[in-house]
Amino acid sequence: MHRLKGKVAIITGSVSGFEEATTMLFVRLGANVIIADVRDEMGGALCNDIASGTNYSNSSSISYAHCNVTDDASVKNVVDLAISKYGKLDIMFNNAGISGDLDKTTLGTTNENFKKVFDVNVYGAFLGAKHAARVMIPRTSRVILFTVSLASVVCGETSHAYNMSKHAIVGLMKNLCVEVGKYGIRVNAISPCAVSTLILTHSLGIDKAILG
Ligand SMILES: NC(=O)c1ccc[n+]([C@@H]2O[C@H](COP(=O)([O-])OP(=O)(O)OC[C@H]3O[C@@H](n4cnc5c(N)ncnc54)[C@H](O)[C@@H]3O)[C@@H](O)[C@H]2O)c1
Repeated sequence: MHRLKGKVAIITGSVSGFEEATTMLFVRLGANVIIADVRDEMGGALCNDIASGTNYSNSSSISYAHCNVTDDASVKNVVDLAISKYGKLDIMFNNAGISGDLDKTTLGTTNENFKKVFDVNVYGAFLGAKHAARVMIPRTSRVILFTVSLASVVCGETSHAYNMSKHAIVGLMKNLCVEVGKYGIRVNAISPCAVSTLILTHSLGIDKAILG
């Protein structure tokens, strides 16, 4: 039950969707979790919910930090917060992502949307890895995780920007394995298929209430 006891984790993009469930699981397993997102009100509420829940144990702690993953200083701050608060960072879970516009065609893809999706999904993932590596390399046995998608292997179902962004993160993950693996840092990417969260209902253009 306490597999993650004493571990310190940052989870980005975690105030909703399945990372909300991941956050709860990490806390239940004993980790100290910092949830990092741009939705401050929801983040604070989630912390209170989890801290007052039955799964919350004395060996874990949860806090919220505002973090825009597209902003270098913002990502640096949340990693530095983990160090000042707990003295280390064991798990950096780069999960924040957006689907962007739904149009799957090349001609229907706007440049603004393309850049926005890459900014959050790819640059944001890179910044998370960069600042995690900064504090993890001097230590050993740490983990960097990314949430990618089935879109990183199956094509034609999502916009070019989303599909390409998830392929790009797989490239980053593999490159990082070579670079930071030698310091004992494990790097993995998780590829969910379809989970009824905001990102999925938005990309299907349906109301979440319909899926339940
Ligand atoms: N739901 C699915 O079916 C599915 C499938 C495959 C992959 N994914 C991936 O899972 C991850 C989580 O998505 P979800 O389904 O939970 O959707 P979601 O929209 O519920 O969660 C995304 C989270 O990212 C946060 N976020 C967005 N921009 C941000 C930024 N600039 N800085 C910090 N946080 C930001 C949002 O506030 C939100 O909490 C994404 O990377 C998504 O691509 C989801």
